[in-house]
Amino acid sequence: MERIDLRSDTVTLPSPAMREAMARAAVGDDVWNEDPTVAELEALAAELTGKPAGLFVPSGSMANLIAQLVHAGRGDEVICGQDTHCMHDEVGAGAALAGVQYAWIPGDGRFTAEQVAERIRPRTFHTPGTALVWIENTHNRGGGTIFPPDEVSRIAALCRARGLPLHLDGARIFHAAVARGVPVRELTRPFDSLSFCLSKALGAPAGSVLCGSREFRTAAHRFRKMLGGGMRQVGILAAAGLYALRHNVDRIAEDHANARRLATALAAVPGLAVDPARVETNIVMAGVPGAAGKLVERLAERGVLAWAPDDRRIRFVTHLDVDAAAIDRAAAVVREVLAA
Ligand SMILES: Cc1ncc(COP(=O)(O)O)c(C=O)c1O
Repeated sequence: MERIDLRSDTVTLPSPAMREAMARAAVGDDVWNEDPTVAELEALAAELTGKPAGLFVPSGSMANLIAQLVHAGRGDEVICGQDTHCMHDEVGAGAALAGVQYAWIPGDGRFTAEQVAERIRPRTFHTPGTALVWIENTHNRGGGTIFPPDEVSRIAALCRARGLPLHLDGARIFHAAVARGVPVRELTRPFDSLSFCLSKALGAPAGSVLCGSREFRTAAHRFRKMLGGGMRQVGILAAAGLYALRHNVDRIAEDHANARRLATALAAVPGLAVDPARVETNIVMAGVPGAAGKLVERLAERGVLAWAPDDRRIRFVTHLDVDAAAIDRAAAVVREVLAA
């Protein structure tokens, strides 16, 4: 049976050309700052995002935790959107390990400067002080939504005026840049620091890069070591990241087209609630009749893999290992399963 895996854009396999680049990578001990391929990746990431420095880390979750450790501390508060990945999907690491709590703004992950302003509070002997404002772009649980750039600028101006750092979880920021047709640095410019993932639709097997000022990198580097994220001859992975940044960014447009194709097909399936107009990038959220988990199981029996973020919705994510023909077959299976 054919398997069409739409659970996440993390399921991609490294291509032969990427593996070749990994095999040929010059390596050294990165804990001693001696891996030339890691240095090359960090320099490229910094250049693309318009920041002075980059730091290669093993995962998006570690990038998020390090950013919170650098910018905030025990008893501090982080303002973010509802269902943000660091709050919802990282086993409570921000609370458990950075000691922060979240002042979250209801909605689909997007919010306004006014909503941030309402939540900023001073550090007193009663209250947690606001230490950090956090934006996730694109927003995963929001359905791959793009945070409006003008609103980011307004929030950044507010943060500057109030002396607060602004961080971007840009796990999929390249998706936002490709969808808007702008260089990624245009979207990262307002942020003090950010991370992006190499393993989400860019096709690398692992790794994220944290970018920011040199001081931010110095602090982040210490926390990476503290968390056990210092890796040795890791140029092998950095080479995959370099390959991903050089070859797999522009093609993200195909994933967006496939997501719209899927959304349009699913919108015609009786019982599913899908609005193709809401599909901005590579994530399609479908409201489902009955229990989402059960439907995911029935689809899996027919070879179509999806994920249920909660009991009312299932999520399909397009990526470089599924083409338009596979999308059409997946949509046909969904239609048949729901009709059965
Ligand atoms: C928005 C966002 N941030 C962070 C992460 C965490 O990345 P990782 O799985 O590499 O830890 C994810 C993973 O899906 C994500 O969607």
